[in-house]
Amino acid sequence: MVKQFYRDTWAEVDLNAIKHNVKQMKKIYPSPKSVYAVVKANAYGHGDIQVAEAAIEAGANKLAVALLDEALQLRESFPDVPILVLGRIRPSDAQIAADHNLTVTVFQKDWLVEASKQLTTKLNIHLKFDTGMNRLGIRTKDEAYDVLKELKSTTMVVTGVYSHLATADENNEAHLEKQFERFKESLKLLQDNIPNKVEVHLGNSAGAMRFPNSMYDAVRFGIGMYGLYPSDLVKRETGIPLKPAFSLISQLTHVKKINKGDTISYGATYTAEEDEWIGTVPLGYGDGWIRKLQGFHVLIDGKKYPIVGRICMDQFMVKLDQHKPVDTKVTIIGEEGGETVSTDDVATHLETINYEIPCMINERVPRVYID
Ligand SMILES: Cc1ncc(COP(=O)(O)O)c(C=O)c1O
Repeated sequence: MVKQFYRDTWAEVDLNAIKHNVKQMKKIYPSPKSVYAVVKANAYGHGDIQVAEAAIEAGANKLAVALLDEALQLRESFPDVPILVLGRIRPSDAQIAADHNLTVTVFQKDWLVEASKQLTTKLNIHLKFDTGMNRLGIRTKDEAYDVLKELKSTTMVVTGVYSHLATADENNEAHLEKQFERFKESLKLLQDNIPNKVEVHLGNSAGAMRFPNSMYDAVRFGIGMYGLYPSDLVKRETGIPLKPAFSLISQLTHVKKINKGDTISYGATYTAEEDEWIGTVPLGYGDGWIRKLQGFHVLIDGKKYPIVGRICMDQFMVKLDQHKPVDTKVTIIGEEGGETVSTDDVATHLETINYEIPCMINERVPRVYID
């Protein structure tokens, strides 16, 4: 249920686009291979429960999040779907994870010692190997043997093994090849030490889309599920047609003509060179639409108009070429009248990656779901 809201700015999340993107991935990874819908950070800002529902309907069979808190919240809506926590949970919270049938990531012997002090029931774990990301994971053979030895005296069951790729979206494949090799070595080491069949997974969106034959039993599908490409290279090379799910919409709340020489907003950083029509849009840095977006543009009636003057906490101003009525639609991210302002365009202006954009539009902006 979308909460009632009273403001003139909202994000639209197209759940059909999510389903389309998951279906693209399922074509490459048909069952029994698994597709994890990566819905951490509130599904990259799109809304975790709604995205997870759509993804599961389209064929994803598992969920992955970063935090125990995120997993617990999803468990309430998805009592039977496997949920993997990708980050390190506190060992003192292992019983909470077990009680909710969550799968957690393990890579430290000391974590096992601490967690097993209070864990009384079975807990499913995935062992994580660090093959070159250098963020989390078992790095050496000695560390692996220590973990495997310690595991024997716990109630934990290894149900999966994975690693994470650092450069799968890039042209230079030397680092990636090294990660593939190291992961193979890790799997060999485990072969003799883990009796049950475990799920092996390696790919994020870029790895999954570019190297389908090297991804083992499952993929962790994040950015691509939201219809955004991990990089231009992945888009060009794979040609997999993804549909963006996120748009950001607003309406003009005020329109006026200012005189030549008048200035706009805090600091008076913009001066009108002639008499100009100016529209006010109710979105600002308090919503995550940060001040660095001054100089970027929005779409009105299928045409781009520049953002002029400093972006305020709740509003910004655009320069129009004619009078427009109050309540005229403003497309901040999305398509209108054959023109597009994409998430990638915003990311390029901010010199960042598309991942950051829907994440940075915070919960003050209501999400509306289109299905
Ligand atoms: C461990 C792990 N797996 C998978 C993903 C999904 O990556 P992507 O969004 O590039 O598909 C992430 C996201 O950062 C991650 O941290």
